[in-house]
Amino acid sequence: MTEITTTFRARLVDFVDRLVPKKLLRLFVHPKFQEFVGLERIEALGSWIDNTFMLKRRQKICREQHVDQSTEDYLKSHFCANPFRQLETTPTGLAYVCCPIWLPTPIGTLDSDPEQLWNSDAAKRIRESILDGSFRYCNHWHCPAIASRSLPHRDSPEARQVIEQYKKNPARLPEHLVLSHDKSCNLSCPSCRSSLYLANSRKQAELDRLTERTLLPLLAEAKSVMITGSGDPFGSKHFRNLIKRLNGGGFPQLRLELITNGQLLDERAWRELNLEGRVKYVQISIDATEAATYAIVRRGGDFARLRKNLAFLGELRRAGRIAALEFSMVVQALNFRQMPDFVRLGQEFAADRVAFNMIRQRDIFSKEEHVAAFIGDPSHPDYQEFLEVLKAPELARQEAPEVLIGNVLEYVKRAEIAAA
Ligand SMILES: C[S@@+](CC[C@H](N)C(=O)[O-])C[C@H]1O[C@@H](n2cnc3c(N)ncnc32)[C@H](O)[C@@H]1O
Ligand code: SF4
Ligand code: SF4
Repeated sequence: MTEITTTFRARLVDFVDRLVPKKLLRLFVHPKFQEFVGLERIEALGSWIDNTFMLKRRQKICREQHVDQSTEDYLKSHFCANPFRQLETTPTGLAYVCCPIWLPTPIGTLDSDPEQLWNSDAAKRIRESILDGSFRYCNHWHCPAIASRSLPHRDSPEARQVIEQYKKNPARLPEHLVLSHDKSCNLSCPSCRSSLYLANSRKQAELDRLTERTLLPLLAEAKSVMITGSGDPFGSKHFRNLIKRLNGGGFPQLRLELITNGQLLDERAWRELNLEGRVKYVQISIDATEAATYAIVRRGGDFARLRKNLAFLGELRRAGRIAALEFSMVVQALNFRQMPDFVRLGQEFAADRVAFNMIRQRDIFSKEEHVAAFIGDPSHPDYQEFLEVLKAPELARQEAPEVLIGNVLEYVKRAEIAAA
């Protein structure tokens, strides 16, 4: 009976997963629908759908992935420290030990006891899968470290140190946290969302309770914390409160890594949030070098204000008051012509790196919207021009800022192989 129920449930999950979620999710993010049903209910339902259906599909892909002999041999002789050192939070209330796209098995929910969460059975199973060399919870295609064969060797000093530490003290708390549990942001970039989202006061209070109950205990032994991959560290009231709390004296060793649109990161925020001496790395996502393009791709942003804040950050970097500064661009049909200029923008404001990443398909896009934006497709009307832009000498420069071309050339390579 249990077996029949399980099979039936698995089939139902599969059926609903294939037919419903993408369309449903697009409906959920439609502003009129949100207004009608109420944002809180939508959020709860969206999280439930993601945690129940989408997640199962991502896990099934991992379970059923074909592992060729060369990958199997590679993984048997290599190691990844992430599941032993890192904890990542998500807006659906789950916690992971790596990026949820690359390793889609959660270790538990954010409302659990912090130590039990970090040492949950799922967390232990994931760590064992790294130690036994199967990496069976990792998506071998999506994980850049596996795909680019850049994991450390199992016998390297780094790997041996992590393994020995784990054997001595398996319960040791994470060294690095990635906090992505609040989507609140001051912008609504079309690549990311269809409308502005700011948590209401009830949600904010709930998130602030999470700080005291879960996040601070989990941060007790951490050396670094990244804020954020979900919303904006300065556009979210919760993240601002958290940063203030972390910089209030209780976490002297902890260093911040900030990923932000940069609109609100000015001298005043720097002072008010007590950021001096606390920040290791700042990534500013910019996506354009011209004000008109910026207004579209970074909807709600003001280019003049951005430039003023970049000048402030450039000064901090030149004075060594932040250890690294990176500018990033999500490459798409609207902005690819500005790629060479983007490198010059990095140079102007003392960035260490400028990084390019191809626009990723998101549930919020219709198929037509993605086709129009995705310049990596050889059938895109501007594809040939895109290939010409990629030959620009600025993109191959050796001196600072370093150019990280990300997955952009990967797409071009794949297209060339497909055409051959
Ligand atoms: C979601 S944002 C959160 C941090 C912050 N608000 C920011 O924009 O930097 C994290 C990163 O995702 C990038 N991003 C947004 N939409 C994307 C898409 N469709 N494909 C690839 N990257 C995307 C942003 O440019 C940013 O660098
Ligand atoms: S998905 Fe990749 S980065 Fe994450 S734990 Fe596995 S090997 Fe490491
Ligand atoms: S600034 Fe970042 S989080 Fe905000 S909408 Fe844009 S990409 Fe998304």
